[in-house]
Amino acid sequence: MDNFSGQMSPDLLSPLMRRGAEFLGSRYPVICGAMTWVSEPKLVSAVCNNGCFGCIAGGNAPTDILARQIEETRSLTKHNFAVNLITIAPSYKEHLAMLKDAHVPYIVFAGSFPKANEIAEAKATGAKVMCFASTTSIADRMIRFGADAIILEGSEAGGHIGHVSSMILIQQLLFKYADTVPIFVAGGVATGKMMAHLLLMGAAGVQLGTRFVMTEECSVHPKFKEVFLKANARDAVATPQYDSKLPVVAVRALKNKGMQKFGALQLRLLRELEAGTIHRQEAQEEVERFWVGALRKAAVDGDIDGGSLMAGQAVGLMDKITTIPELVEELLSGANAELLAVKNRLA
Ligand SMILES: Cc1cc2nc3c(=O)[nH]c(=O)nc-3n(C[C@H](O)[C@H](O)[C@H](O)COP(=O)(O)O)c2cc1C
Repeated sequence: MDNFSGQMSPDLLSPLMRRGAEFLGSRYPVICGAMTWVSEPKLVSAVCNNGCFGCIAGGNAPTDILARQIEETRSLTKHNFAVNLITIAPSYKEHLAMLKDAHVPYIVFAGSFPKANEIAEAKATGAKVMCFASTTSIADRMIRFGADAIILEGSEAGGHIGHVSSMILIQQLLFKYADTVPIFVAGGVATGKMMAHLLLMGAAGVQLGTRFVMTEECSVHPKFKEVFLKANARDAVATPQYDSKLPVVAVRALKNKGMQKFGALQLRLLRELEAGTIHRQEAQEEVERFWVGALRKAAVDGDIDGGSLMAGQAVGLMDKITTIPELVEELLSGANAELLAVKNRLA
């Protein structure tokens, strides 16, 4: 199953990768972030079998399907992987309860932020817990609640995003917590060069999403990859929130008709909220259902006009589809070459 052959021995890189790799139990501290409709067992296991760390996307999958995906992933890799739970998904509570007996080695909480008892529940299964943090107070809270590692994700990332860019979060969170818990940096990471600098800054590792979409092993619709190939960084835009009466988490995706439909949906829901014909929670759930459905349309069915093309700004940094071994090799050799260049600059 493993496919480590041909990957270079990363000399300068090894010491910088050790902490993150030990935490994840993988060869390299490179996480392929969970992506709803994208991170299914074949992609996750291919990531793991090439020395990186994969995450199954819980999304809003029926609980029995998620349980089957866990089993299928186990049959395809002997390496560690995570299950990503979306705390705002209607099936979240059921997903968490199902994990009690599934004994997955890592659980990642995404969407919003988990409560203390939910982290405790996850840890009681024997899993290590990773949480996203978009501010110092959230990082403090997650660490206090028992998170074993933090994922710092800048607003450059694809999918549901926070408001602050990686550049700022690195200074706010990474520099503050790097010695407390392992911090994995996500959002806009696409090259080995960048990975090298993040490790030098204290990151335990990196998490990439958009770049893994552009691999042969990723089974999204070919049209989804084709638009990614042509897109520039500025094409991956974040959705606005029209009114605080309906708080919505911003989504970064490539501009298309599907994005405009989200504007129309917000306006309709706001009108219904004003008229009192819908409750806020119902409206927010409808928003989440919209995104899950729209992403499926684009990523699975290939409807690149009407569906959601969730992508990070890193889409502008990639111009080819590679295999995962080629991507890993490129990341490692790029990072090693950059470390050598830094060493020479310092000499
Ligand atoms: C199509 C797509 C779907 C995503 N779905 C999820 C998800 O279900 N759960 C999650 O935690 N993150 C999700 N993300 C975020 C990724 O896991 C990852 O953190 C992000 O893509 C990293 O930024 P990058 O795109 O700049 O590499 C998604 C990203 C994309 C592009």
